[in-house]
Amino acid sequence: MTDWRAVTADITTLAVDAIVNAANGTLLGGGGVDGAIHRAAGRALVEACRPLAPCPTGEARITPGFRLPAAHVIHTVGPVWHGGSAGEADLLAACYRNSLDLAANAAARSIAFPAISTGVYGYPKQEAARIAAEATRDWLAAHRDALDTLLFVGFDASSTALYAAAIAAAES
Ligand code: APR
Repeated sequence: MTDWRAVTADITTLAVDAIVNAANGTLLGGGGVDGAIHRAAGRALVEACRPLAPCPTGEARITPGFRLPAAHVIHTVGPVWHGGSAGEADLLAACYRNSLDLAANAAARSIAFPAISTGVYGYPKQEAARIAAEATRDWLAAHRDALDTLLFVGFDASSTALYAAAIAAAES
């Protein structure tokens, strides 16, 4: 049984096997959580990312964590919110599934996700949390015992509360 919950944290401080980065297709860094991860990991991260780009929306790439406490960074590109009829939900769900597949292939036992697409990319937060929880629940059901710990990381308590509620709803 995977320990699946929402926590409030700066994701760059977490000593898990893999943290997920809400990247853009260039994989060369940016603002938000992407900027924080690149700053904390050091210059080696951008050099590791360069040959893995471009990364299309919904896909994911894995690198070492370099100076981060996390062993791996899984870079995924969330959809930009265009109103909801441009395939955003499927693309966001694919981010979670593809990131989890890469984690499992790397034998990671613990993984932490930020609130993908809910910052600069403008995805409505509650809807993004629901998709994250449902995609994750379905992946965990199909990959029993693959992971010990799966965290949704809110940068503030209100974001964490949305993901905690989405987990509860997805489990019921
Ligand atoms: N730890 C955890 N969560 C964080 C952190 C952090 N250190 N910093 C920011 N966040 C949260 C934000 O509060 C937001 O809820 O991550 C969530 C995602 O926001 P963004 O980082 O803006 O990501 P996204 O909406 O997916 O936009 C991606 O932003 O900077 C760029 O290069 C990135 O172009 C890409 C775009």
